[in-house]
Amino acid sequence: MSKLLQYADNQRTLYSRITESVDDAKGAVGPRYDSLRREAVNYAEYMISQYRIRKRQFAQRDDRFVSNLRLLDFGCGVGRVMEACREIGVKHVDGCDISREMIEHAKASDYLQGSQFFLSSGFDAGAAPENHYDIAYSFLCLHHIPMRQTRIAILEALCKSLKPGGMIFAELRVFPGATASRIPVNHAHWTENRPARDTNSAADVWVTRDSLGELVEDFRLFFDDIGVQEFDLKQDLYEYKADEIYQLGYNELFVMASKGAELRDNMQAPT
Ligand SMILES: C[S@@+](CC[C@H](N)C(=O)[O-])C[C@H]1O[C@@H](n2cnc3c(N)ncnc32)[C@H](O)[C@@H]1O
Repeated sequence: MSKLLQYADNQRTLYSRITESVDDAKGAVGPRYDSLRREAVNYAEYMISQYRIRKRQFAQRDDRFVSNLRLLDFGCGVGRVMEACREIGVKHVDGCDISREMIEHAKASDYLQGSQFFLSSGFDAGAAPENHYDIAYSFLCLHHIPMRQTRIAILEALCKSLKPGGMIFAELRVFPGATASRIPVNHAHWTENRPARDTNSAADVWVTRDSLGELVEDFRLFFDDIGVQEFDLKQDLYEYKADEIYQLGYNELFVMASKGAELRDNMQAPT
């Protein structure tokens, strides 16, 4: 079996094992799900504000800008961020996930009755329409994918799903205290292709400062106007804890980029 299929198989099996009830599925998203769900509203607003800036719409307070957006959530899980997007006024948000069980839980959400869901093979966006979405985003998912080839295939699929000028917005984790050659056993550095048998630790792929260039290059394969934003979690990033799986502190990392360069044109003064 190819590593791409092997990785997808591992991931699918893992999620079907741990998502029987909706509470199990929420537990698989992360500890303290209710608080993660509440803060998703702020993250959704931050993401949409970044899209506003790219479209040079920041001077407007036009709710239709938000309600008319078409969003695709990759690795949607039980629909935590999709629900948050609906809560802040987005009418159209679809989800895609490798796990049938996760999708079934998300489909049952009162917030998501108008949404469509697509089953991913693990390295595509399933039957999600092409050239359709304004924003394709992914939270708490890509850092669980230690296969570079899989992540690249996903970036390509998400690029196809976007309209020209659409934005990708992806959450990862960066470990400033580590380097690509010194990360914990059974975790991948950015350019590695590990199928990950025992996946789902804090991060199965460790983004390090010295791999940021390669990370940007992977996004540059399909996108332009690339932005990288670190959210400082105020941890000690350098204290090494040998007996802990996390081992070193991390910050949240957001990568945003557009399907086609626009930012420079948008900055030009009208003639
Ligand atoms: C930790 S949960 C996060 C769910 C959601 N994004 C959130 O933030 O609440 C990770 C989700 O990513 C999905 N996933 C993991 N690898 C995937 C892949 N290669 N393709 C599609 N979905 C994947 C899992 O099935 C799971 O639902």
